[in-house]
Amino acid sequence: MSELFAREAAVIMPTYGRVPVAFVRGEGSWLFDEGGKAYLDCLSGLAVVSVGHANTRVAAAVAEQMTELVHVSNLYYTEPQVRLAERLTQLSGLARVFFANDGATANEAAIKLARRWGQKTKGADSYEVLSLVDSFHGRTLATLAATGQPGKQKVFEPLPPGFGQAKGHDPDVIAAAIGPSTAAVMIETTQGEGGVVPFEAAYLQEIRALCNEADVLMIVDDVQAGMGRTGSWFSWQGLGFEPDIATVAKALANGLPIGACLANERASVFDAGDHATTFGGGPVVCRAALAVIEEIEESEVLANCLARSEQLLEGLSALDGVASVRGRGLLLGAVLGQDRAAEVTSACLDAGLVVNNVRPNVVRFAPPLTITADEVDQAISRFAAALAG
Ligand SMILES: Cc1ncc(COP(=O)(O)O)c(C=O)c1O
Repeated sequence: MSELFAREAAVIMPTYGRVPVAFVRGEGSWLFDEGGKAYLDCLSGLAVVSVGHANTRVAAAVAEQMTELVHVSNLYYTEPQVRLAERLTQLSGLARVFFANDGATANEAAIKLARRWGQKTKGADSYEVLSLVDSFHGRTLATLAATGQPGKQKVFEPLPPGFGQAKGHDPDVIAAAIGPSTAAVMIETTQGEGGVVPFEAAYLQEIRALCNEADVLMIVDDVQAGMGRTGSWFSWQGLGFEPDIATVAKALANGLPIGACLANERASVFDAGDHATTFGGGPVVCRAALAVIEEIEESEVLANCLARSEQLLEGLSALDGVASVRGRGLLLGAVLGQDRAAEVTSACLDAGLVVNNVRPNVVRFAPPLTITADEVDQAISRFAAALAG
């Protein structure tokens, strides 16, 4: 194995602080390394493989599409793209979709859409996107400018103008930060990369009301929390508000790269030529995403997500060394009593449990939404052993 690490170090740009393991196979909630060791995957490739590794329904749809039509570009019509947009608009209640390739490019589309809306409805001076401190919206220059983490931004300055950040949790802070140049407020309902920090429904509703009062758009970045992860199709559903624009990506095609920017009629202001991508919404990834949606519906995955969330939350909360557990659905953060998250995460790997540390004292759990009750019990006992070690 160390031979692969050395080869990687010789040819791959060192942007990732990788965990020392190479996986060769996955099945359901399980991953296997080169030596055949089994790991219970409670991270699902960073909240991506929501209907399990090597999902047969997704694999069959992709294999079929691969032999029919792989790519023609967006110069032409393809049926899977339209069918997926029909499903996403039905499920979200939003009106239209632009397909991108991942989370960052879905957010780029959302930012451009907000600017276009500001320009069209209020004039050239309405362009700013206001996001939150500790948010994460991607690594392209614009999405990095929207990301409220100065540590990630500093070495790439100057960043594109037209972005601002405000502290979360207090609506008055947002009210004060919305100004004449604001076109949109962009928010995650639960900050995933920011440490698994959920925002209260009342707070999110107040932001919606503030956006209405100020006549600015509300964007929900559902890249991590969307597509069932919080127990509903989209994370705002059940929280008593609706965004104007929303983005999804990670779990949409269970591991194939895809992103989507959805908007209501009011915000659907792109004209022909305003935005484009060569690969976005290709037939293969759209067939994969359609199969994911079918799997979530037919295997009652949302109900399983909620039941397993309760089980995991209760089990983790009862462990010595866990101060609290926060998050929604199967996006949970175990807040440790001490800054031991890195050490505990590493001990988990040794114990055959994949999780990750998102803060010095927070370990993130984001297993496949198809995880079974028995597997959740195993995850809790492996985590307990790692904590005790
Ligand atoms: C909320 C959120 N937005 C955007 C992104 C960026 O997505 P991608 O890595 O696919 O560009 C992420 C990735 O973690 C995310 O969690």
